[in-house]
Amino acid sequence: MGTMNGILRAQPSLTGTTPVFDVAAAPGDPLALFRVWFEEACAAGVPEPHAMTLATVDADGVPDARTLILKDADERGWAFASVRSSVKGTQLATNPAAALNLWWQPQVRAVRVRGAVAEATAEECAADLAARSPAARDGIDPADWVLWRLVPERIEFWQGAEDRRHQRLVYTRDGTGWTRSSTR
Ligand SMILES: Cc1cc2nc3c(=O)[nH]c(=O)nc-3n(C[C@H](O)[C@H](O)[C@H](O)COP(=O)(O)O)c2cc1C
Repeated sequence: MGTMNGILRAQPSLTGTTPVFDVAAAPGDPLALFRVWFEEACAAGVPEPHAMTLATVDADGVPDARTLILKDADERGWAFASVRSSVKGTQLATNPAAALNLWWQPQVRAVRVRGAVAEATAEECAADLAARSPAARDGIDPADWVLWRLVPERIEFWQGAEDRRHQRLVYTRDGTGWTRSSTR
Protein backbone atom coordinates (compact mmCIF):
# COMPACT_ATOMS: atom_id res chain seq x y z
CA MET A 1 0.00 0.00 0.00
CA GLY A 2 1.37 3.37 -0.98
CA THR A 3 0.86 6.74 0.52
CA MET A 4 -2.57 8.36 0.34
CA ASN A 5 -1.06 11.74 -0.35
CA GLY A 6 -2.03 11.72 -4.03
CA ILE A 7 -5.70 10.92 -3.60
CA LEU A 8 -5.93 13.31 -0.68
CA ARG A 9 -4.36 16.18 -2.60
CA ALA A 10 -6.73 15.55 -5.50
CA GLN A 11 -9.74 16.37 -3.34
CA PRO A 12 -11.04 19.91 -3.52
CA SER A 13 -11.80 21.61 -0.22
CA LEU A 14 -14.02 24.52 0.82
CA THR A 15 -16.25 23.93 -2.18
CA GLY A 16 -19.49 25.13 -0.63
CA THR A 17 -21.42 28.30 -1.40
CA THR A 18 -20.48 30.97 1.10
CA PRO A 19 -23.32 33.07 2.53
CA VAL A 20 -22.77 36.70 3.49
CA PHE A 21 -21.41 37.05 7.02
CA ASP A 22 -21.29 40.62 8.26
CA VAL A 23 -19.07 40.35 11.33
CA ALA A 24 -19.68 44.00 12.28
CA ALA A 25 -23.42 43.30 12.49
CA ALA A 26 -23.04 40.11 14.59
CA PRO A 27 -25.04 40.10 17.83
CA GLY A 28 -23.32 40.45 21.21
CA ASP A 29 -24.74 37.09 22.32
CA PRO A 30 -23.19 34.07 20.57
CA LEU A 31 -26.37 32.05 21.13
CA ALA A 32 -28.28 34.54 18.99
CA LEU A 33 -25.72 34.16 16.20
CA PHE A 34 -25.79 30.36 16.51
CA ARG A 35 -29.56 30.39 16.15
CA VAL A 36 -29.31 32.49 12.99
CA TRP A 37 -26.57 30.28 11.54
CA PHE A 38 -28.49 27.12 12.45
CA GLU A 39 -31.65 28.38 10.80
CA GLU A 40 -29.63 29.35 7.73
CA ALA A 41 -28.07 25.87 7.67
CA CYS A 42 -31.54 24.28 7.78
CA ALA A 43 -32.80 26.62 5.06
CA ALA A 44 -29.77 25.77 2.90
CA GLY A 45 -30.52 22.07 3.25
CA VAL A 46 -27.38 21.17 5.19
CA PRO A 47 -27.81 17.46 5.96
CA GLU A 48 -28.08 16.68 9.67
CA PRO A 49 -26.89 20.12 10.80
CA HIS A 50 -27.27 19.03 14.44
CA ALA A 51 -24.52 16.39 14.12
CA MET A 52 -21.33 17.49 15.85
CA THR A 53 -17.96 16.19 16.92
CA LEU A 54 -17.56 16.02 20.69
CA ALA A 55 -14.05 15.86 22.11
CA THR A 56 -13.20 14.84 25.66
CA VAL A 57 -10.02 13.71 27.39
CA ASP A 58 -9.24 10.60 29.36
CA ALA A 59 -7.56 10.35 32.75
CA ASP A 60 -4.13 10.55 31.08
CA GLY A 61 -5.08 13.72 29.19
CA VAL A 62 -5.30 11.86 25.89
CA PRO A 63 -8.06 13.33 23.69
CA ASP A 64 -10.93 11.40 22.19
CA ALA A 65 -13.61 12.48 19.73
CA ARG A 66 -16.84 11.11 18.34
CA THR A 67 -20.00 12.25 16.57
CA LEU A 68 -23.06 13.18 18.62
CA ILE A 69 -26.36 14.95 18.15
CA LEU A 70 -26.78 18.43 19.60
CA LYS A 71 -29.98 18.28 21.68
CA ASP A 72 -30.37 21.93 22.65
CA ALA A 73 -28.46 25.17 23.07
CA ASP A 74 -29.60 27.87 25.48
CA GLU A 75 -28.36 29.97 28.40
CA ARG A 76 -27.79 26.79 30.40
CA GLY A 77 -25.40 25.32 27.84
CA TRP A 78 -25.12 23.11 24.76
CA ALA A 79 -26.82 19.78 25.44
CA PHE A 80 -25.96 16.26 24.34
CA ALA A 81 -26.93 12.84 25.62
CA SER A 82 -25.51 9.36 25.97
CA VAL A 83 -25.03 6.63 28.51
CA ARG A 84 -22.92 7.26 31.58
CA SER A 85 -21.31 3.82 31.10
CA SER A 86 -19.83 4.89 27.73
CA VAL A 87 -16.22 5.90 27.20
CA LYS A 88 -17.28 9.54 26.93
CA GLY A 89 -19.25 9.16 30.19
CA THR A 90 -16.18 7.84 31.97
CA GLN A 91 -14.02 10.59 30.51
CA LEU A 92 -16.50 13.31 31.48
CA ALA A 93 -16.71 11.92 35.02
CA THR A 94 -12.91 12.13 35.28
CA ASN A 95 -12.53 15.45 33.48
CA PRO A 96 -15.79 17.39 33.08
CA ALA A 97 -14.70 19.53 30.14
CA ALA A 98 -15.22 19.18 26.41
CA ALA A 99 -15.03 20.78 23.00
CA LEU A 100 -17.53 20.42 20.21
CA ASN A 101 -17.41 21.24 16.54
CA LEU A 102 -20.04 21.53 13.86
CA TRP A 103 -19.04 21.74 10.18
CA TRP A 104 -21.58 22.75 7.57
CA GLN A 105 -19.92 21.88 4.28
CA PRO A 106 -22.51 23.38 1.93
CA GLN A 107 -22.00 26.81 3.53
CA VAL A 108 -18.28 26.53 4.35
CA ARG A 109 -19.15 27.26 7.96
CA ALA A 110 -17.93 25.79 11.22
CA VAL A 111 -18.84 26.46 14.83
CA ARG A 112 -16.47 25.52 17.61
CA VAL A 113 -17.24 25.52 21.33
CA ARG A 114 -15.30 24.64 24.47
CA GLY A 115 -15.98 24.73 28.17
CA ALA A 116 -16.93 22.87 31.31
CA VAL A 117 -19.53 20.11 31.23
CA ALA A 118 -22.21 19.45 33.83
CA GLU A 119 -24.93 16.86 34.15
CA ALA A 120 -28.52 18.01 33.85
CA THR A 121 -30.98 17.10 36.60
CA ALA A 122 -32.32 13.55 36.86
CA GLU A 123 -35.69 14.86 35.64
CA GLU A 124 -34.12 16.40 32.54
CA CYS A 125 -32.19 13.19 31.79
CA ALA A 126 -35.40 11.17 32.13
CA ALA A 127 -37.31 13.61 29.92
CA ASP A 128 -34.61 13.40 27.22
CA LEU A 129 -34.75 9.60 27.22
CA ALA A 130 -38.56 9.67 27.14
CA ALA A 131 -38.44 11.91 24.05
CA ARG A 132 -36.49 9.28 22.10
CA SER A 133 -38.28 6.82 19.86
CA PRO A 134 -39.10 3.43 21.38
CA ALA A 135 -36.46 1.87 19.14
CA ALA A 136 -33.82 4.34 20.35
CA ARG A 137 -34.79 3.69 23.99
CA ASP A 138 -34.61 -0.05 23.59
CA GLY A 139 -32.06 -1.69 25.85
CA ILE A 140 -31.07 1.52 27.63
CA ASP A 141 -31.11 1.49 31.42
CA PRO A 142 -32.87 4.77 32.33
CA ALA A 143 -30.48 5.22 35.26
CA ASP A 144 -27.57 5.15 32.78
CA TRP A 145 -28.97 7.86 30.47
CA VAL A 146 -27.44 11.31 30.94
CA LEU A 147 -28.09 14.70 29.41
CA TRP A 148 -24.97 16.83 29.72
CA ARG A 149 -24.53 20.53 29.08
CA LEU A 150 -21.35 22.12 27.89
CA VAL A 151 -21.17 25.64 29.32
CA PRO A 152 -19.11 27.58 26.79
CA GLU A 153 -16.07 29.66 27.66
CA ARG A 154 -15.25 30.26 24.02
CA ILE A 155 -17.27 30.00 20.82
CA GLU A 156 -15.78 30.43 17.37
CA PHE A 157 -17.79 31.10 14.22
CA TRP A 158 -15.75 30.39 11.10
CA GLN A 159 -16.87 31.41 7.65
CA GLY A 160 -14.84 30.24 4.69
CA ALA A 161 -14.49 32.60 1.74
CA GLU A 162 -13.94 31.95 -1.95
CA ASP A 163 -10.99 34.38 -1.98
CA ARG A 164 -9.55 32.49 1.01
CA ARG A 165 -9.93 35.54 3.23
CA HIS A 166 -11.78 33.42 5.74
CA GLN A 167 -13.52 35.15 8.62
CA ARG A 168 -13.34 34.08 12.21
CA LEU A 169 -15.42 35.60 14.99
CA VAL A 170 -14.56 34.47 18.51
CA TYR A 171 -16.69 35.09 21.58
CA THR A 172 -14.90 34.70 24.93
CA ARG A 173 -16.82 34.72 28.18
CA ASP A 174 -16.17 37.90 30.14
CA GLY A 175 -17.96 37.94 33.48
CA THR A 176 -21.65 37.86 32.68
CA GLY A 177 -21.11 38.93 29.07
CA TRP A 178 -18.90 38.19 26.08
CA THR A 179 -15.86 39.73 24.45
CA ARG A 180 -15.72 39.50 20.66
CA SER A 181 -12.67 39.39 18.43
CA SER A 182 -12.49 38.80 14.72
CA THR A 183 -9.72 37.91 12.33
CA ARG A 184 -9.60 37.53 8.60
C1 LIG B 1 -24.48 11.11 13.09
C2 LIG B 1 -24.19 10.40 14.40
C3 LIG B 1 -24.87 10.78 15.55
C4 LIG B 1 -24.63 10.15 16.76
N1 LIG B 1 -25.29 10.59 17.88
C5 LIG B 1 -25.01 10.04 19.08
C6 LIG B 1 -25.64 10.57 20.27
O1 LIG B 1 -26.41 11.55 20.25
N2 LIG B 1 -25.35 9.95 21.44
C7 LIG B 1 -24.48 8.88 21.51
O2 LIG B 1 -24.26 8.39 22.61
N3 LIG B 1 -23.85 8.40 20.42
C8 LIG B 1 -24.09 8.96 19.21
N4 LIG B 1 -23.44 8.49 18.08
C9 LIG B 1 -22.43 7.39 18.25
C10 LIG B 1 -21.11 8.02 18.77
O3 LIG B 1 -20.42 8.65 17.69
C11 LIG B 1 -20.15 7.01 19.44
O4 LIG B 1 -19.83 5.99 18.55
C12 LIG B 1 -20.74 6.40 20.70
O5 LIG B 1 -21.48 7.36 21.44
C13 LIG B 1 -19.62 5.82 21.58
O6 LIG B 1 -18.72 6.85 21.94
P1 LIG B 1 -17.70 6.69 23.17
O7 LIG B 1 -17.15 5.31 23.08
O8 LIG B 1 -16.65 7.73 22.97
O9 LIG B 1 -18.48 6.93 24.44
C14 LIG B 1 -23.67 9.11 16.84
C15 LIG B 1 -22.97 8.75 15.69
C16 LIG B 1 -23.22 9.37 14.49
C17 LIG B 1 -22.42 8.98 13.26
